[in-house]
Amino acid sequence: MLSKKLEEALNKQINAEFWSAYLYLSMSSYLESEGLGGMALWMQKQFAEEQEHAMKLYNYVLDKGGKVLLQPIAAVETKWKGALDVFQATLKHEEFVTSLINDLCSLSVKEKDYSTKSFLLWFVNEQVEEEKNAREIIDKLKLIGKDGYGIYQFDKEMGQRK
Ligand code: FEO
Repeated sequence: MLSKKLEEALNKQINAEFWSAYLYLSMSSYLESEGLGGMALWMQKQFAEEQEHAMKLYNYVLDKGGKVLLQPIAAVETKWKGALDVFQATLKHEEFVTSLINDLCSLSVKEKDYSTKSFLLWFVNEQVEEEKNAREIIDKLKLIGKDGYGIYQFDKEMGQRK
């Protein structure tokens, strides 16, 4: 069983994960239009990953006998100032998601719902990875700067994401 408060908060997180997916798909189309097909593909994988996060939460709410309430997904940004700007926005967004997950963990403890707390630990660890990935890409893009050949090579590398 889920408390009403937790049920609401988990439903909000489902929406936040779908919003993230939407954001990354928007970034993907922007990168594609900038001729950065490899980075666009990387973002499409990110889009798929965020939908998996949403579905993990969705299935958990159902497993606990809760109700899934899918809310509208708000509009996302469509323009950035280049690849570095995209990945800086990604890091900022992932830091925000980390704060949402932390708030959910705090609420699960407050509600004495330890199965939800245990379930959320997967997301706690995932956020470390999400922030690290964005940070590493930002570092590389800064290193490359405006070197066209460097960007070409890095874009190819980004397209290899499994
Ligand atoms: Fe679902 Fe990128 O956090």
